[in-house]
Amino acid sequence: MTFAVRRALETDAPVLIALRRRFFEETAFMIWEPAEFKDTEDDERARIIRLGRQSNSLVLVADTGTQLAGLLSAVGGERNQLRHSALLSLGVAKSHWSQGIASRMMQEAIAWSLAVGLKRLELTVHTTNLRALSLYIRCGFQVEGMRRSSLLVDGKYVDEYFMSLIHGR
Ligand SMILES: CC(C)(COP(=O)(O)OP(=O)(O)OC[C@H]1O[C@@H](n2cnc3c(N)ncnc32)[C@H](O)[C@@H]1OP(=O)(O)O)[C@@H](O)C(=O)NCCC(=O)NCCS
Repeated sequence: MTFAVRRALETDAPVLIALRRRFFEETAFMIWEPAEFKDTEDDERARIIRLGRQSNSLVLVADTGTQLAGLLSAVGGERNQLRHSALLSLGVAKSHWSQGIASRMMQEAIAWSLAVGLKRLELTVHTTNLRALSLYIRCGFQVEGMRRSSLLVDGKYVDEYFMSLIHGR
């Protein structure tokens, strides 16, 4: 299977809303539960436009030619003291796992962050999410700390790692 990683376009909005719903149904590793996700295509379009205008933000999709299988967003800080940093989130449709999509999206995001002069990329990940954790470590992220019982998932408290990649350190 081949795929291209590219920036999200406004016209991707309907497909991206469906892809997000799919992520939330397929695993509990992302913050939304399917029933509480009410964003519309207009919300998605507005998000793509807003983040597209910010030099420290990025929305990437993995495009197989027939569908979008992955989504990575990097949301840059808005206050002066946070503009050097962006918060990452990432998902790949389960049918397309283990094909290198997330790895490639992370490589592109890291290259972009260097090119635009960001110092820091950060994210949170469930401590039990070994697929994602190993991917982030492979990409050079380090664990900074743990948020204990920060989430309640299917009736159980879950810890999250805070992770970051600091350029030039
Ligand atoms: C985590 C996720 C983004 C990875 O996407 P992907 O496209 O399958 O990732 P890649 O193919 O680039 O790399 C996956 C690699 O992780 C490693 N891996 C997979 N399962 C693993 C496990 N249980 N333990 C350790 N490493 C594991 C392997 O090296 C694997 O490659 P392989 O399956 O070819 O051997 C995807 O599984 C996903 O969307 N999960 C649900 C949402 C999520 O967890 N998002 C991250 C929230 S922080």
